[in-house]
Amino acid sequence: MVKVGIDTLALYTSRYALDLGALAKARGMDPNKYYVGLAQHVMSVPPPGEDIVTMAANAAKQALQGVDTQSIEMLLFATESGIDQSKAAGIYVHELLHLPSRCRVVELKQACYSGTAALQLALPYLRENPQKKILVIASDIARYGLNTPGESSQGAGAVAMVLSAHPRMLAFEPEYGVVTESVMDFWRPNYRHEALVDGKYSSKLYLTMLEKSWQQYQTVSGRSFADHDYFCYHTPVPRLVEKAHHYLLKLNNQAHLSEEVNDSLIYGKQIGNSYAASLYVSLASLLDAAKEDLSGKRIGFYSYGSGCVAEYFSGIVQPGYRAALHSAYHADLLAGRKPLTYEEYEQFYTFKYVEDGGSQAIPTYQTGSFRLAKMEQHKRIYEQVNVSVRQRRNDRIEEGQPVKVYAPGKLILSGEHAVVYGQPALAMAVNRYVTATVMPETVPQVLFDLSDLSHHSHLSFGALHALKDRIKHQYHKFIRGDFSIREVLQKPFELAQFALGILTESLNLTLPHGVKIQVQSDLPIGCGMGSSAATILSVMQAISNYLHVPLPPEKLFQLALEAENMQHGRSSGLDLRVALEGGCLYMHQQSIQKRAVPEMPLYLVNSGTPLTTTGQCVEKTAPYFTSQQLREDFGAVTRAMDEALRQQSWPNMQAAIRANHQLLVHIGVVPEKVQRFIAEVEASGGAAKICGAGAVAGDQAGAVLVATDNKQVVTTLCSRFGYNVIPISGELRGVHAA
Ligand code: HMG
Repeated sequence: MVKVGIDTLALYTSRYALDLGALAKARGMDPNKYYVGLAQHVMSVPPPGEDIVTMAANAAKQALQGVDTQSIEMLLFATESGIDQSKAAGIYVHELLHLPSRCRVVELKQACYSGTAALQLALPYLRENPQKKILVIASDIARYGLNTPGESSQGAGAVAMVLSAHPRMLAFEPEYGVVTESVMDFWRPNYRHEALVDGKYSSKLYLTMLEKSWQQYQTVSGRSFADHDYFCYHTPVPRLVEKAHHYLLKLNNQAHLSEEVNDSLIYGKQIGNSYAASLYVSLASLLDAAKEDLSGKRIGFYSYGSGCVAEYFSGIVQPGYRAALHSAYHADLLAGRKPLTYEEYEQFYTFKYVEDGGSQAIPTYQTGSFRLAKMEQHKRIYEQVNVSVRQRRNDRIEEGQPVKVYAPGKLILSGEHAVVYGQPALAMAVNRYVTATVMPETVPQVLFDLSDLSHHSHLSFGALHALKDRIKHQYHKFIRGDFSIREVLQKPFELAQFALGILTESLNLTLPHGVKIQVQSDLPIGCGMGSSAATILSVMQAISNYLHVPLPPEKLFQLALEAENMQHGRSSGLDLRVALEGGCLYMHQQSIQKRAVPEMPLYLVNSGTPLTTTGQCVEKTAPYFTSQQLREDFGAVTRAMDEALRQQSWPNMQAAIRANHQLLVHIGVVPEKVQRFIAEVEASGGAAKICGAGAVAGDQAGAVLVATDNKQVVTTLCSRFGYNVIPISGELRGVHAA
């Protein structure tokens, strides 16, 4: 059976939040009633202008990054905070995100269960149509009366999930247990803006329905409690989830184990109830927060919607799922919320949208990329929010002042090739740079001045976005196997243009006037020194500095990775990491540790651009790496170099470089001419090795690192071999302003 599930998922919540301590104070309660009794700490509060549509569009915009929107066949919008009895909220989202007109859009309702309903209706369709994608969005605002028992269990949020066959994140299993019963535990008649609820009864039903749906699921699937590694629950208040999990443990005669749910509750404790989205907020929380690699782990899901429908089902986390996560975006979102005073909360809560067809301009508050701007003739008018330069102005730097940013190149000291097979690598930022300078231009266009590529062009903002969309489209063809990576970027200068395009798209930037972007590089292209990573980072950072728009490092990394994929297909992110952080980095699988840079005389020799690509080298060397012994030999040499670095031992460093060179010769990536050069370096008491993929044809291998205290020898040898040489040292700074 075709695997179907969540390819990627992103959540969005309002930019304002109320700490429940402030609510407790206003209500004359002990804050621990909320912090401890409900295990709820903070709740998101939407300002005027933020509603289920704007939250949904923001979540979906993030989830759709890197997804070909032309493949979205359906948009299923799950909510119980509907804004219209007839028109589906998803149609507004469809318009805001420019989704294709061939797309089925519908809204689903059954209290907090509707997100799961959308998902379960979508999965069989995807099994039948594995080339399609479905966008499921669950978006809700949990609202009870002021000063009622439900008040502390409010919240707001949206989760957008791109569902597909062969998903990157999570594959659902087909078995489920589902139970429907007509009860009145929570409901909202059409004429009310707040829900009515019998809190205690609803909590009891939540547990009863858990038992019923779990038992049915167990019977259908034949799985026991122990077959599940983690558990996600619909989360009206975190304490109820903890109680429910204990109840499930008891039903299954299991010992107390809270770790299985703790990570899934982190976001819920900060956001509050988000009704239909809440179960998937808990999934995002678990995937983002789990320290261990969850690949292959089974998650049990409990979905409950008052009224009521309950469903139990399961899914398996897919290997490599971390690449599809939006953890940095979520972290920024939650960390950047503005805390409200009680009075501000009440002001937001009591804000009323006109209901008489009159015209009402909605005051501007902080939102994501979209806001409800106006009510007019009973219509809701949404708009895209532009981050204007004036809004972001930093007092210290005048608008329009030229900005210069340096991004260092990198050298792999040890571990090239073997890193592909899970072995460690050591890489170092070096004092050679790509420099991006941004300055104002009178024409309202972007002038690219890429002197190293002999490229000068003017692009209108519209043309820039069209170019970005075209490149993304080509990339999807590459992913589908219809294109080679060399066809994605048609010209090398398009990389800088694409980097600017996705940066402005992702941060919703508008350029107030024309700008000129000058890019200069003293890194040779295609020589394994990370020139494309440094180009992308320098352009993105320079634009963000110029516009005074904060760009957290993780966000910069994610955007830059998306751009680098256009050049390298599926970038490992290693070059970007080094250029971003600077210094020397020891990388082993997911872990990255800083190391001291070598304080030794090093030279960078350019043996010429290799005739073969990195991809060809990796392919040609693959048979060697079937040998476990060889992999371990590479690993051992990198560890030996790491140890030499810690001790700053010059002889040990040279010994490790020589040993590494031998291994690289063995796998056939050091051309004969370069081998002769290195042999002469060694004969003079030095050590040398190629840095990067090397070459499997021709006699040029890109960068060669020489470690010697005899400068004269290296200069003489280079002039004999026709190579350029420069002294080089480690650069401690990552991408930085002049
Ligand atoms: P409440 O009145 O806040 O609860 O209502 P409580 O007075 O029973 O207190 C809660 C806990 O705090 C108790 O512990 C107290 O002892 C403890 P427990 O007995 O539960 O172990 N406590 C303290 N602890 C430490 N220090 C103190 C202190 N004082 C008391 N000083 C309730 C809680 C959730 C019912 C309420 O917020 C509510 O009505 N919320 C809305 C309904 C709801 O969330 N129901 C949950 C199940 S229904 C559901 O999930 C569907 C839903 O999402 C809607 C949909 O489907 O669309 C709601």
